[in-house]
Amino acid sequence: MDILLGLQWGDEGKGKIVDFLAPKYDIIARFQGGPNAGHTLHFDGKKHVLHQIPSGIFHTQIQNIIGNGVVFDPVIFKTEIQKLQDRGLVPTRNLFISKKAQVILPTHRMLDAAQERNKGKDKIGSTLKGISPAYQDKIARAGLRVGDLFEDDFEDRYDRSLKRHLQMLQTLGYEVDLAQEQAAFFSAVKFLREFKGINSEYMISKALDEGKSVLAEGAQGTLLDIDFGSYPFVTSSNTTASGACSGLGVAPNRIKKVLGIFKAYCTRVGSGPFPTELHDKTGEKLREQGAEFGATTGRPRRCGWLDLPALRYAVMINGVTELLMMKTDVLSAFDQVEICTHYELPDGSHTQELPYDLCETEIKPIYQKFEGWGSIPKNVEKFEDLHPNLQKYIAFVEAQTGVGISLISFGPDRTETLMR
Ligand code: GDP
Ligand code: IMO
Ligand code: MG
Repeated sequence: MDILLGLQWGDEGKGKIVDFLAPKYDIIARFQGGPNAGHTLHFDGKKHVLHQIPSGIFHTQIQNIIGNGVVFDPVIFKTEIQKLQDRGLVPTRNLFISKKAQVILPTHRMLDAAQERNKGKDKIGSTLKGISPAYQDKIARAGLRVGDLFEDDFEDRYDRSLKRHLQMLQTLGYEVDLAQEQAAFFSAVKFLREFKGINSEYMISKALDEGKSVLAEGAQGTLLDIDFGSYPFVTSSNTTASGACSGLGVAPNRIKKVLGIFKAYCTRVGSGPFPTELHDKTGEKLREQGAEFGATTGRPRRCGWLDLPALRYAVMINGVTELLMMKTDVLSAFDQVEICTHYELPDGSHTQELPYDLCETEIKPIYQKFEGWGSIPKNVEKFEDLHPNLQKYIAFVEAQTGVGISLISFGPDRTETLMR
């Protein structure tokens, strides 16, 4: 199994590349996160945004799996599926859902809103999709799983969760208006029953035994990982390579490539530390050129230069075997671009490591400048044909991370992709 995952704060372009690489694989499987993800695909002049559905869905010969590590919202699922059906797809044929995936209930979304509100100025900037409360229930061993939705006593199980959640919401001072949301939920559960709930760990293991190839599709990014991200400003799952093992039930010795995807610069949406963030015109220009607005919430993304200490950290945590550099075209608009090579600490010393508490430690990024490379011709066929300044940029990142860059993306469309 190969893994493709984000090395930054999410939105690196995972959806585009999973869709691009999908024809090489038999199975594409999501292993964590849920509808907080927004994965954008562009092909044949159309744009598609996927939230919970793996980005291989447009390739009808490929099996797509929503793994056990995912938190799954039936309501959002129904909307997503209906959009795909409108485009002529028949997802009941090639989409499978792990019975062990946790279910997001309407009250999880309310708890998310209530918990965020009570954090005040320390709010995480959650997508408010109920991700954290759903994972809280999973860890508390109180969650409902997709398999439960197919059981006769499902409504009893739901009622027990509802009672508990309503008590919590009352304590948080959150006014609950459930009628509409609950109706939508039950309608979505009925809709979901047309799909195949599976033991995905067996399906994937058998496929691997038969010599089939599987690509695990990450959501969010390494710096949003619950253990290794900028805690507490993180999401509630392991977005890193180990998350693919636990989120799909695949043993570590079956992992082959780890494809680490990063933007040629950095973005972040929501609160939390971002060492290379630019609060000036350059940051605004990055946002404009890169159309940096969230695919799930529409929020403007914070922008800054590429952060090598953070990238090296992500390479280390994930055991990245290949790097994929995205949105290279966005930097075409700059005569000069910069890369942060290390940080200066308050005592004047320099470090290449991320400090324990990125939130509290004042670090000053130290930059190296690179000359720009102008626009990238659409018909570029080889790395060697890229502008020498871009080749220098690539070689520098490779030398600094110790990992080769095997793919360059220079536009949102499937075709705007160059492989080495
Ligand atoms: P994901 O969450 O990692 O799948 O990424 P998103 O879809 O949230 O955000 C990436 C955005 O960049 C989307 O709007 C993509 O269409 C767009 N995109 C992807 N690759 C490129 C690229 O190489 N150049 C440009 N300009 N846009 C890109
Ligand atoms: P994709 O898969 C970017 C951010 C939120 C917030 C924090 C916690 O499209 O890359 P959550 O809703 O998980 O409780 O939010 O994580 N976040 C993302 N940022 N891309 C994503 O997914 C994200 N999913 C969550 O903005 O700061
Ligand atoms: Mg996204």
